[in-house]
Amino acid sequence: MLTDLENLASGQSAALSTATPVVAIVGATGAVGVELLNCLSARNFPLGGLKLLASARSAGRTLTFNGTELLIEELTEDSFDGVDIALFSAGSGISKRFAPIAVKAGAVVIDNSSAFRMEASVPLVVPEVNGEVLHQHRGIVANPNCVAAIATVALAPLHRAHPIRRLNISTYQAASGAGAAAMEELRLSTAAYLAGEAFEPKVLPHPYAFNLFSHNADMDPDSGYNGEELKVIAETRRILHVPALPIGITCIRVPLLRAHAMAISIEFDQPVSPQEARSLLEAAPGLRLVDDRAANHFPMPSEASGADDVLVGRIRTDIGDPSGRTLAIFVAGDQLLKGAALNAVQIAERLLENVVRKS
Ligand SMILES: NC(=O)c1ccc[n+]([C@@H]2O[C@H](COP(=O)([O-])OP(=O)(O)OC[C@H]3O[C@@H](n4cnc5c(N)ncnc54)[C@H](OP(=O)(O)O)[C@@H]3O)[C@@H](O)[C@H]2O)c1
Repeated sequence: MLTDLENLASGQSAALSTATPVVAIVGATGAVGVELLNCLSARNFPLGGLKLLASARSAGRTLTFNGTELLIEELTEDSFDGVDIALFSAGSGISKRFAPIAVKAGAVVIDNSSAFRMEASVPLVVPEVNGEVLHQHRGIVANPNCVAAIATVALAPLHRAHPIRRLNISTYQAASGAGAAAMEELRLSTAAYLAGEAFEPKVLPHPYAFNLFSHNADMDPDSGYNGEELKVIAETRRILHVPALPIGITCIRVPLLRAHAMAISIEFDQPVSPQEARSLLEAAPGLRLVDDRAANHFPMPSEASGADDVLVGRIRTDIGDPSGRTLAIFVAGDQLLKGAALNAVQIAERLLENVVRKS
C-alpha cells in the first residue's frame, strides 16, 4: 500500500506550497470532524477554501462554519481536486482507500485514523513533543491515538530532563473516543436507566450507564491486551523515540461524554523529586498544572473538556517502588481536541509555518 504512496511521493512534491490552503475535512459530520471545524474557526486558520466531505448519508446536508452554511459533499475519488490539505477522520478503511488518492491529487493528508501510524515513511506527530519529525512526511502525516497524544504531552518534558525507563498506565476513557454514536448511546442509556427502562446497547458491547468496562477495541486472545492498549504502547514508544520502552497498560471505558483521564506511573533511571517534576511540567507547552493537595483539586475530565491544554497533577513519588525512582501523575485531556482535532490543526499550522519561512 505504502509502496504505491512512496512511488507517488517520489514523483512529485509532497510539500505544501501555499500559505492560504484549501482544506478538505473527510468525516466532517463525525465527533472529530465537528471539532476540526471548531478548531479551524477558533484558531483563525488562514483558509483558502473549505470542503466538507462525508458519506452519501450526509451529502446535501449543511454544517455552519463562521456563520456560513456549507454543503456537505459525498466523498468520491474526485473530491480532492484543488485541495491543499486533507484532514481525514472517517476511519481507517476510508483513509487507506482515499488518502493515496488525495496525495496523488496534490494534497498533504493529516490522518486521524490508525491506518498509517506505524508506517516508517509516515511521521506520527504531536507538535510540542516531536514536531521535528514532521518534515519527513511524503504526503501523509499521522495523528496519534488519543491516549498516546495526551500522555506524551505530559511525559515528554519529564523524559527530556530524565530518561524514562518504564511506564504503567491506567486509563479512564470517555464515550466520545468511540465517536458520535457512542456519545448518543451514553445519553440515551443514562436517560433509560434513570427512567427505570430497559436499554439494549447497539454501539458498545456492554451497558454503559453507571457502569465501566474494559475498552471495546478487539482483544488479542493470546496476550490478553486489546487493540487500544497495543496502539498506545506502540505509538508512545514511537513518539518518545524509545522503541523498546516497557509499558504496562489497562484501558477502561467510563461513562463520561468527553475527555479521557489516565493515571501514569513513570520510572526513571534516577529518583526525580515531585518538586522538580512540577517545575518541568509547569513550564512545558500544551500543559496546565492542576495540583492543589490542600483543596484536593486535581485534573478532572469536566475541566479538561473543551480545553486545549492537557491537565496534569497528583504529582507524587510512587510509594509502590521502594527504589524511589518512580513518580505517579494524573492526567486529563480532551481527546476530541488534543487527542484528535486540535493536534491535527496544530500539525497543519506547522506545515504553514514552513511555507511562510520558505517564501
Ligand atoms: N473520537 C475520538 O476521540 C478520536 C480520537 C482520535 C482519532 N479518532 C479517529 O478519527 C476517526 C473518526 O472518529 P469519530 O470519533 O469522529 O467517528 P464518528 O463520530 O463515528 O464519525 C465518522 C465520520 O466518518 C464519516 N464516514 C463514515 N463512512 C464514510 C464513508 N463511506 N465515506 C465518507 N465518510 C464516511 C461519517 O460520515 P456520515 O455522518 O455521513 O456517516 C462521519 O463524518 C476514526 O478513524 C477514529 O479512530 C477519533
